[in-house]
Amino acid sequence: MPYTTLRYDLRDGVLTITVDRPDKLNALNATVIAELGQAAVAAAADDQVRGIILTGAGPKAFVAGADIGELVSQDPLTAKERSLAGQAVFRRFEALRKPVIAAVNGFCLGGGCELAMACHLRIASESARFGQPEVKLGIGPGYGGTVRLPRLVGRGRALELLLTGGMIDAQEAWRIGLVNRVVPADRLLAETETLLRTMLAQGPLAVACVLEAVDAGAEMGRDEALLLEANHFGLLSSTPDMREGMQAFLDKRAPHFRGK
Ligand code: COA
Repeated sequence: MPYTTLRYDLRDGVLTITVDRPDKLNALNATVIAELGQAAVAAAADDQVRGIILTGAGPKAFVAGADIGELVSQDPLTAKERSLAGQAVFRRFEALRKPVIAAVNGFCLGGGCELAMACHLRIASESARFGQPEVKLGIGPGYGGTVRLPRLVGRGRALELLLTGGMIDAQEAWRIGLVNRVVPADRLLAETETLLRTMLAQGPLAVACVLEAVDAGAEMGRDEALLLEANHFGLLSSTPDMREGMQAFLDKRAPHFRGK
């Protein structure tokens, strides 16, 4: 699949998707959004892809938001369509049953922060900066910022970011729970890959079930979510990987999971 605004690099089970418009700080224009959608579909369908790293090209930005050059002339209907299309693409990543980690290498603003929040985890370089500056442009977030930010960091902290449009640094993003870890810039991709490979070493079906339970369970009532967890617990007990994992523990050896 040829991409013009992304790099799509698959190596030993880990797919790295790099938004590649560094001269525009990797801003999300319609082509990037469409290609991210294609990449998410391709990643979901490809058994060789076991986990995903999303990052931005160049030293300066992860993604500095939606492309303001495109937004400036939008009318209400095209704006709504743009919002819905972007939301659907980001949701594809969030709904993947393979771990997706954002490696945030610089400015992570607006749609960039929304893209990072649609990933399962976020690792930030020390130079990363986060914010939802849409209100400075007289608009609100359109790619899930009002939905995911309060769920991640709490309503008060989210509203402070959303209503001021201000930026926070990586340490503050870690302190409020927006990112999982902060690492030196030159270690970002290596540390992200190490964390991802730790997940890929676990039982793949178990990992998929946990992702499904946390994703679907977040929007369910408590009893329904607990039932989903119990159903997964039961389902996984039918798998050879469950028997292998437990037998390996009892045998004091490393498990060999086969995703079955
Ligand atoms: N949309 C379109 N172009 C963008 C962009 C965006 N969201 N963010 C950066 N760019 C472009 C700039 O226009 C500039 O292009 P040019 O060289 O052709 O003029 C290039 O990327 C470099 O950005 P620049 O502003 O010169 O870098 P800086 O270091 O001075 O500032 C930022 C960096 C991130 C603070 C600044 O670019 C910015 O505020 N960007 C917009 C962030 C935003 O509001 N995002 C939400 C959009 S809804």
